[in-house]
Amino acid sequence: MTLPPCYTPPDDDDQPDDPSRRSFVLGSAAAAAAIVVSPMLGSTAESAPKVDPNAIPVALTVNGTRHELRLDPRTTLLDALREHLDLTGTKKGCDQGACGACTVLIDGRRYNSCLTLAVMHGGQKITTIEGLAADGRLHPVQAAFIRNDGFQCGYCTPGQICSAVALLKEGHAGSDDEIREWMSGNICRCGAYGGIVEAVKEAAKNGGANASV
Ligand code: FES
Ligand code: FES
Repeated sequence: MTLPPCYTPPDDDDQPDDPSRRSFVLGSAAAAAAIVVSPMLGSTAESAPKVDPNAIPVALTVNGTRHELRLDPRTTLLDALREHLDLTGTKKGCDQGACGACTVLIDGRRYNSCLTLAVMHGGQKITTIEGLAADGRLHPVQAAFIRNDGFQCGYCTPGQICSAVALLKEGHAGSDDEIREWMSGNICRCGAYGGIVEAVKEAAKNGGANASV
């Protein structure tokens, strides 16, 4: 048979049963498996708890429960709640005081938890969105947000609700304009402002200002 002019017979090294090629393929497969599996298993060194040399004792009372923590003194209240207490209802948006997603209540007043350090709040009463409902019943502001579609994606909602709870106690629900003004520190990227104002008005009528937090 006459072979076409472009045909080149394979080298011996390219043959599938070549021992050197087989060992190369096996070695590569083993290396790839090690790369994939080792992060899943974790090494002993990685799983050992990390000791923060800067940590100091901090006692936080959140939603009625006292927590004894050891924190780097530079830890924000927001990071203490989310990273150390697993209270992830409080959201991190801008992390620089511009959006209000991280709003919590401290002794009844609203704070941007990304702008304050956890160590500054030992002995104070901190309330997050997880602590507003009581005895299996939603806080009047939570119920009003649901009834009035005061949210779309919901990311800003915990901060909006905490802020609204404080707004009612401050007595700033006298008109739509007043509510908009005193809620202006809470940004909603979905633009659910109409529903939020209606929710605050309804909660004001339903005794939201007197509900315990
Ligand atoms: S995350 Fe705190 S104000 Fe935006
Ligand atoms: S509901 Fe989506 S950001 Fe407010």
